[in-house]
Amino acid sequence: MIYLLLVLGMGCRPLANQPNNTAAVPASSAINQVKDPEMDRFVNDLLAKMTLEEKIGQLNLLAVGFDVTGPVVSKNVDENIRQGKVGGVFNTFTPTAARKLQEFAVNNTRLKIPLLFGYDVIHGHRTIFPIPLGLSTSWDLTAIEKSARIAAEEASADGLNWVFSPMVDIARDARWGRIAEGSGEDPWFGAQVAKAMIKGYQGNDLTQNNTVLACLKHFALYGAAEAGRDYGTTDMSRQRMYNEYFLPYKAAVEAGVGSVMTSFNEVDGIPATGNKWLLTDVLRQQWGFNGLVVTDYTAINEMVAHGVGSEAEAGELALKAGTDMDMVGEVFIKHLGRSVKENKVTEAEINQACRRILEAKYKLGLFQDPYRYTNESRTAIIMQPEFLAAARDIARKSMVLLKNKNNALPLKQSGSIALIGPLANRQRDLIGNWSAAGDWKQAVSVEQGIRNVVGNKVKINYAQGANIADDEQMIKRLNAHGGNLDIDNRSSAAMIQEAVRVARSSDVIVAVVGESQGMSGEAASRSDISLPGQQLELLKALKKTGKPLVVVLMNGRPLALPWEEQNADAILETWFAGTQAGNAIADVLFGLYNPSGKLTTTFPQAVGQVPLFYNHKNTGRPFGGDLLDKYKSRYLDVTNEPLYPFGFGLSYTTFGYGKPQLSKTAIKAGESLEVTVAVKNTGNYDGEEVVQLYIQDLVGSVTRPVKELKNFRKISLKKGESQEVKFAITPDDLKFYNSALEYVLEPGDFKVFIGPNSRDVQEMRFSVQKN
Ligand code: BGC
Repeated sequence: MIYLLLVLGMGCRPLANQPNNTAAVPASSAINQVKDPEMDRFVNDLLAKMTLEEKIGQLNLLAVGFDVTGPVVSKNVDENIRQGKVGGVFNTFTPTAARKLQEFAVNNTRLKIPLLFGYDVIHGHRTIFPIPLGLSTSWDLTAIEKSARIAAEEASADGLNWVFSPMVDIARDARWGRIAEGSGEDPWFGAQVAKAMIKGYQGNDLTQNNTVLACLKHFALYGAAEAGRDYGTTDMSRQRMYNEYFLPYKAAVEAGVGSVMTSFNEVDGIPATGNKWLLTDVLRQQWGFNGLVVTDYTAINEMVAHGVGSEAEAGELALKAGTDMDMVGEVFIKHLGRSVKENKVTEAEINQACRRILEAKYKLGLFQDPYRYTNESRTAIIMQPEFLAAARDIARKSMVLLKNKNNALPLKQSGSIALIGPLANRQRDLIGNWSAAGDWKQAVSVEQGIRNVVGNKVKINYAQGANIADDEQMIKRLNAHGGNLDIDNRSSAAMIQEAVRVARSSDVIVAVVGESQGMSGEAASRSDISLPGQQLELLKALKKTGKPLVVVLMNGRPLALPWEEQNADAILETWFAGTQAGNAIADVLFGLYNPSGKLTTTFPQAVGQVPLFYNHKNTGRPFGGDLLDKYKSRYLDVTNEPLYPFGFGLSYTTFGYGKPQLSKTAIKAGESLEVTVAVKNTGNYDGEEVVQLYIQDLVGSVTRPVKELKNFRKISLKKGESQEVKFAITPDDLKFYNSALEYVLEPGDFKVFIGPNSRDVQEMRFSVQKN
C-alpha cells in the first residue's frame, strides 16, 4: 500500500517538547515549532499527489452514530468516505465499528488516507469520573492526569484516536450550564488542570496505541457568554482576555495540545471560527500552535446567523482565518471548490489546512498502521478494577464539605438513616452530562453505595420526598435528551408527608437533593440557581422533625443555598461523581475518607450577584462594610460576600496555620523569594489540606485584581502532625499584560496571602525594586 511504502523507515517519535514559554506578546514563534523533516517530506509527497477535491475532502469531519449535539446530522457517511470526501468522523466507537469505516477509507480511496476518529470523551470514556468541575475541586493534579490517562486508555482501546477535551473555558457565571464542563473561575488554576489533562491524554508519544490526540476547547472566551446564556455573545477587553481568559488556552498550547476547537461565540465582533486575529495572530503566531484547528459543531454554518454573509462566504472567512476542519456543517466540501475557481480562496490556503490534518494523522501513526486503534483484544482493559478504583478515589477527593455543624458528619456505622430525596437512589444522573460511552446502569447509587460500605450495620429507611423538577416543560425537555426522569405523580404534599414520617422514625436524615444531570452542560443554562422543584420545601419539612439534617448535593454548577447554609447540619457537595459515585459518597459520609475538596467556583448567596468571582478588581468605591455608606459598589438587598468563597472546603479535622514568613521583603526585578508557613492538623482525624497562595499587585499601569491564585499545595497530615510548606514566588508570578499587551513585571509593592481558601487568609507585603 502506498502509505506504508511512504512511511518506511519512520520510527516512533515523541511529541514536540515545548519550552515553558511565558513570553510577552508578540511571543516567540519558536514554541511548538520543533521541526520534523521526515513528517514534512511525507506530507509534502502526499499533498503533491492529491487533487484539489481530495484535499477539500480531508477538511470534512462528519458525525456518525448517535450522539447529536446540534440540529444537523451527517448523511451518507459511508458513501462519502468511500469517495474520499471525509477526513475524520466522530461519535462512532468500538474497534469493530471504527475498523469498518477505516477500511472504507483505506481500501476504497485512491490515496488510502486513514480517518481520524473523534469523540467527546470529557470525564472518562466508559469508566466515568466526576464531571470536570468536580475533578477540579479535588485540587489533585496527579489524580486529574490519571483520570485523563485512563480515559485515553479506554478510548483508544475502543477505536478512538481523538478526544474533544479538555474544555478550559473560564466560567464565572453560575447560570451557564457549561460551567460543569470546566475547571471553574480561576485562570492560573485552569491552566494547571489543562496541562495535566493534556499530559494524561497525549502522553509523550502520540504514536502509541494507548494515547490520543487532545482537543483544547472552546477557543475562545466561550464561558463569558452574556447573561450566562449558552452560545451568547461575549465582548471583553483585550486586557481581560490576555490576563484572565487566555491563560488556560495558552498553557494548553505550551503543553503541546494537538488540536484546538473554535468556539460558537464571537470575539471582538467576529465569530471565533472566522476570526483571523484569534486563530492565526494569537494562536499560531504569538503562541506558536502548529496543530489542527477544528470548528465546533456546524459553527461555520452558524456564521450566517451571526450575520457575516452567505454560507460560502462564511466558509471562505473561516478558512482564511485559520480554521482547518469543518465539523458536520459540510460548508467546506460544498463550497470551497467553487471559491478557489472564483479566486476567493487560494489552493495554497487549502493545502495549509489539509497539511495540518495530514500531520495530525501522521503524528498519531495512522499512516504506519491505520488500524492501530482497532485492536479488539485491547477492549479487555475497559472498566478494569484498577480503573474503577481510580474513579472511586478521585470521586471522593472531588467532594467538598461545605458545612459540618457539631460534627454531624461522619455518620455512625450503626442505628438508622432516613435516606430521602429524588437523587438518593438514582443512577442516571450520577455519571453526569457528556458521559461519553458511560453506561449509567453501571453507576453505583447512593443507596447502593451505603449498603456496599456499611452493609447491614445501618438500617436505611427510604423515601423519595420530591421530584427533581416539577416544571413540565423542563421535564419534557430533559427527557427528550436522555434525562430519564421518572416523575412520581403523587402530590408534593403527600410525598413530603411520607418523607417526614420516615425521618421521624430514623436517627439522622441524609437528604440527597440537587439538579438532574441535564440541568447543566450544553444548552442548559438556568436563570434560577436554587434547588429545583419542591426540594427546598422538602428540606424545610425535614428540618421541622428536629432530626440532624445532612444534605448531600448533586449539581453541575454553583447553587444559591442560603436557607440550606443556615439550617442544615451538614452539607456535602458531590457534583455528579461518576460510575463510582455512590461508593465514594458513602466512603465520605461514614468517614472512610476524610473530605479534602475545595471549591473552584464561588457560590453566591443569590443569583443576582452573578457573575461573582474572587479575583475581581477593587473599583474606586469598594464597599467597606458600613451599611449606611450609600455610594459604594454594592447591592441594597444583599452583601457582596459569596455564600462560599473560591478555594473553600472543610474537613472532618481542623488545620492550624502558623504565621507565614517571607524570605525577603524587598527583591530586585527578576529575583525570586520564598514564603513559608507551618500547617498543623489540630483535629481528630488524619486529613488533607490545600494550602493556597494568592498575590496582589498593589499598583499597576493597569489595575490589578484584589487577589490572584499563584500556587497551592495539597498536603496530607496525620492527626497532630505539622508540616512546613514552602512556596517560591518567581518573577512570572508577578507579571501581567499591560495596556500594550506586553507581558511585564512592574516594580512596586505586592501583597502575598496564604490560607485555606481565598477569604480566610493571612497577608504579608514585599516590594520589587527597580534594577
Ligand atoms: C460542543 C462541543 C463538542 C461538539 C461535538 C458541540 O455542540 O460545543 O463541546 O465537542 O459538539 O460533539
